[in-house]
Amino acid sequence: AASDPDLVARAQAAKEALGSRVFVLGHHYQRDEVIQFADVTGDSFKLARDAAARPDAEFIVFCGVHFMAESADILTKPEQQVVLPDLAAGCSMADMARLTQVEAAWDAMAAAGVQQQVVPVTYMNSSADIKAFCGRNGGVVCTSSNAQTALEWAYEQQGPDTKVLFLPDQHLGRNTAVLQLGLSLDDCVVWDPHRPNGGLTEQQLRDARMILWKGHCSVHGRFSEDVVDDLRAADPDINILVHPECKHEVVLKADLIGSTEFIIQTIEAAPAGSSWAIGTELNLVKRLADSHPDKKIAFLDRNVCYCSTMNRIDLPHLVWALESLVDGVVVNRIEVDPETEKWALVALERMLSLPG
Ligand code: 13P
Ligand code: SF4
Repeated sequence: AASDPDLVARAQAAKEALGSRVFVLGHHYQRDEVIQFADVTGDSFKLARDAAARPDAEFIVFCGVHFMAESADILTKPEQQVVLPDLAAGCSMADMARLTQVEAAWDAMAAAGVQQQVVPVTYMNSSADIKAFCGRNGGVVCTSSNAQTALEWAYEQQGPDTKVLFLPDQHLGRNTAVLQLGLSLDDCVVWDPHRPNGGLTEQQLRDARMILWKGHCSVHGRFSEDVVDDLRAADPDINILVHPECKHEVVLKADLIGSTEFIIQTIEAAPAGSSWAIGTELNLVKRLADSHPDKKIAFLDRNVCYCSTMNRIDLPHLVWALESLVDGVVVNRIEVDPETEKWALVALERMLSLPG
């Protein structure tokens, strides 16, 4: 839908008034009406790096979700202020791992006599205190674009007996471990924070190589093998391109798997006339379809599925945040406390220094 012209004019005017004092970051799942005002767009990894690229900007307006804004605050200078235009833009997957739950799991690993061997790895989609837990305990952060490298690094940390605790997305953890590191499904166990001892015996913890936290993305969890089969039956030449947050069964049936940035680069490089079904959030798939009319681009689901929290950032909220800054008021500032920031930065910097 076309954006409200009055709001577009107000957003433009506010950005012009702020000039180089403001830097607007936009994740690829953001609405078109918001993405048009982003100074840079990217996947989680690129945005984490880009956040630090404008140390002169007083304000970083983050059009994305809460954990991304927290990471931007951690990676920028203390005097730079990070703004999330709607505080309700959380991530249900990130909420599935709470620090107290993770600490209970950690204690259970000590009781089973394996904690020394466990390296915690958290997906970027987690709260700052989970990242800090990883920093404090010899672990690392990863994103969907570097999960393989991060896991390879982790498995080198404690010799051949290393185990990884992967938080909070079981699918990214399993897909990367099995498809890219060559572990078997039997090497992986799932820790359910809502069951005593994670629903695992001490022997299962001792035998496992990969302990997957029982978290998932409800948006990517909707893609199914059936739809892949139907699309292939209807068009044998179709290419199935999915995000690694999809279930393992779906990823096994896909042709290509990768982060949002990878998905965009793949479609940009695809030949005219090629046909694609994409399993990721709908704002991005629609934008790709609109900007590549010479390619057949479909959504890998029969229903509409946006990420409702990414969609919380709309043009009215962006205009309100920018106009408030023009008026000298910083609304919705995201500020991580110094102790959490210190250790989360350790885990984030380990990720940023990985090769590749
Ligand atoms: P990317 O890192 O691929 O941009 O993914 C972020 C995300 O939230 C996917 O659900
Ligand atoms: Fe979180 Fe899923 Fe939305 Fe990404 S798409 S922000 S993982 S709920």
